Amino acid sequence: MTIELTTPAEIPGDVEVLGVPVHADLSLPEGAGVELDPAFLRRCGFEGKPGQAQAVPAEDGSCIVALGVGEPGSIDDEVLRRAGAALGRHTAKVGSAATTLAAVAGDPAGAGAIVESFALAAYRYAGARSEPPTHLLTRLAVVGADPAMVRLGEVRARAIARARDWVNEPARSMTPTRLAGVAGELAREHGLSLEVWDEHRIAAERLGGLAGVAAGSAEPPRLIRLAHEPAGATATLAFVGKGITFDSGGLSLKPPTGMMTMKDDMGGAAAVLASVAAAAELELPVRVVGWVAATENMPSGTATHPGDVLVARNGKSIEVLNTDAEGRLVLADALSLAAEEEPDAIVDIATLTGAQVVALGKGVAGVMGTDASLVEAVIAAGARAGEPTWQLPLVDAYRKQLDSEVADLKNIGKAGEAGTIIAGLFLREFAGGRAWAHLDIAGPSWSEEVRDWYTKGGTGWGAGTLLELARTW
Ligand code: BES
Ligand code: MN
Ligand code: ZN
Repeated sequence: MTIELTTPAEIPGDVEVLGVPVHADLSLPEGAGVELDPAFLRRCGFEGKPGQAQAVPAEDGSCIVALGVGEPGSIDDEVLRRAGAALGRHTAKVGSAATTLAAVAGDPAGAGAIVESFALAAYRYAGARSEPPTHLLTRLAVVGADPAMVRLGEVRARAIARARDWVNEPARSMTPTRLAGVAGELAREHGLSLEVWDEHRIAAERLGGLAGVAAGSAEPPRLIRLAHEPAGATATLAFVGKGITFDSGGLSLKPPTGMMTMKDDMGGAAAVLASVAAAAELELPVRVVGWVAATENMPSGTATHPGDVLVARNGKSIEVLNTDAEGRLVLADALSLAAEEEPDAIVDIATLTGAQVVALGKGVAGVMGTDASLVEAVIAAGARAGEPTWQLPLVDAYRKQLDSEVADLKNIGKAGEAGTIIAGLFLREFAGGRAWAHLDIAGPSWSEEVRDWYTKGGTGWGAGTLLELARTW
């Protein structure tokens, strides 16, 4: 899906569809470029609400789409995103479109939100369908927009669409080896540095958590380091992604319904790889090092048993009492490796706990961390990216739930009690005392419905947040 984006000063003459902003009082703002009869819009049931769209035939045979933007004073990026997405869904089957939506954006950055949501609403995963989804749109003119902001929206949309593709690809083909292959393609395309460790190197480097989760799988694990390292960079950000290409639960097997979407358990890894590539596309002056610990989590005669003890890269021993709490085991090693390079900050991202879905649902990610200003920066980046994020506390008093009789810590706490926080406390043990934040995207990484700029399946959640964090670091 490549859409040619332009930023003309005037509406081009040959567009098939024109998206125009309309307020809740059915008035059109200055710069909308056309006039529409409010009485007609009202008869159509159009109320100018954010996300609402109404097609209106134009005299020249083209189609005007009224896009609700609500009250004049309340047009933020969220409103622009919902309007851009509504237009994107309306135009997936035409060749060229234009919009004057940027006319109501409070600041130039709004154009990025419009373009991004437009492209993402039109996203389709081709998959294995014998009739691939039709998608014709090749040109979008964003009238009066700042070209730099349009380019930012384009890069962000591409990062998110890529992450969606990787998540949507079935686990049979999106293996740890294939994920490393994806990193290789990105490295070549964007001039990134790449290192991939295979199962032998993983063992030799004492990545006991990753090797322990991989023990039950026929697919070998991979440890991936993909980095954007511009000359002269003074700051370094490390992004760490959970790359479980399929989570069956291991010997602590999940029930069938709990397993149906578990090809998405590498959503954190997808966000990391996509955002590192996007940082290079934007030539950001900051070093961005992406780490991915990739493996399947499968049951077999060679799988890790509940009660086994693994030793992570940083030397801490872990009693595995539930093999379904595997994400924290692979992240333990990847966080340790990231910390060894002494970056200025470490942010990990993971589809880590079902408890996150219970606490915050599918529309808000959870964040925890050891550094208040880093957590604040992550929340602010999420807000700019349209990915709301809510902080949970790392309650020190809960740490004793992870005390083990045989090892430095065990991998689960008390059932049904603050599972997301417990996972955060576990990860903290491996961040080497550095400034660290952890994003739990278990709910947001997957969508069961078409809503705004989300399509069914992988959402690509997190790629936008990480990119915004790197862009404003
Ligand atoms: N990948 C799952 C978490 C998950 C659940 C992601 C639902 C997306 C949707 C993770 O590996 C897991 O199984 N976590 C367990 C931990 C528990 C055993 C302590 C969970 O949350 O049930
Ligand atoms: Mn699991
Ligand atoms: Zn998992």
